[in-house]
Amino acid sequence: MTTIAVLPGDGIGTEILDGPLRLLRKLAAGGAPITLTGPYPYGSSGWLETGSTLPAETLRGCREADVILSGAVGTHPRVSPADCPTPEAALIELRHEFDLRVSVRTVRVPGGDDVTIVRNMTGGAYAGATGRRESDGSTAAEDTMVLLPERVREVLEIGARYAADKPGRRYVSVDKASVFATSRLWRRTAGEVSASTGVRFDNVNVDRAAYEFVKYPELPAVVVTEGIFGDILSDVVCARAGSPALCGSATINPDRRFGSGATALFEPSHGSSPHRTGSRRSNPTGAWLALADLLDWCPDLAPLGLAARVREALDATYRAGASTYDLAADAASAVSMDEFNDRVLAALDLAESGLAGTGR
Ligand code: IPM
Ligand code: MN
Repeated sequence: MTTIAVLPGDGIGTEILDGPLRLLRKLAAGGAPITLTGPYPYGSSGWLETGSTLPAETLRGCREADVILSGAVGTHPRVSPADCPTPEAALIELRHEFDLRVSVRTVRVPGGDDVTIVRNMTGGAYAGATGRRESDGSTAAEDTMVLLPERVREVLEIGARYAADKPGRRYVSVDKASVFATSRLWRRTAGEVSASTGVRFDNVNVDRAAYEFVKYPELPAVVVTEGIFGDILSDVVCARAGSPALCGSATINPDRRFGSGATALFEPSHGSSPHRTGSRRSNPTGAWLALADLLDWCPDLAPLGLAARVREALDATYRAGASTYDLAADAASAVSMDEFNDRVLAALDLAESGLAGTGR
């Protein structure tokens, strides 16, 4: 049995998971080993309900779950930034709490090849609270950056495994070795992992990588890099793909110890888009891609072979010309989020395969 804690978060987070949740409920009703718990509040909504961006009840729900499915965290129309300045900190706290230390993002480039970005999520620029010192305006602010060799190696080795699945393309390791000691460790380790795995990573400085990802027609298959570089570059790759909504994000604990709390968090990588909340026009592709990653990650669910089918259903939906407002040629031809979800579910054809129950 796989327990999935649902944390919709803020803004469009409250609607963007609707399609994936419809599928999960259908699967559970059809006998798949899935238990959904929540929805648990966090981010600004958590603060509004309980005064905390990561309420105790939410944390408890995540401890009792195998994986977390999240919408988006960010601002909320009824919460002033003065009261709750950094709702996103709840996401960082969750990652630290469950040692979700590696991020794997896959950007679907319509009509092109996917790009996978692997980065460290704890350590490095994403140090916990102990690695930072706030300024009162007159004192120095401090963010320390510490990378352990074994953590760098882990990220590179995970990247090498993705590279092995995408033969014949380019793989890059991004750093700023001309400036940072952490980057020099990164580059040295990239060389060692290239030698031990046979996957050749090109070493590219982060500024040059940004230039190439905008300029070169062909994107690399795999990018391995430090957390903050990967955060920025994954948005650059999304821009190339055409929308921030084309990226599913998984934050994983590579130890994969199922049975002792959340092992991974899955979410679309876009923000909470508060001004679009309730419009039901947003593009749910990232949420579907996050669900596919979740279905691949969980040992009880992977054998159902659903992850590949979700990705195929998305491709089929795009091929049939369905586009939400962000990708549609003109406003008149854009489909709503619900219409897009209906089409993905229809393309999955669950009834045919005997996987669906009678759930909504
Ligand atoms: C993202 C976001 C987060 C990150 C923030 C909100 C902590 O930018 O998911 O890309 O940097 O990981
Ligand atoms: Mn980001």
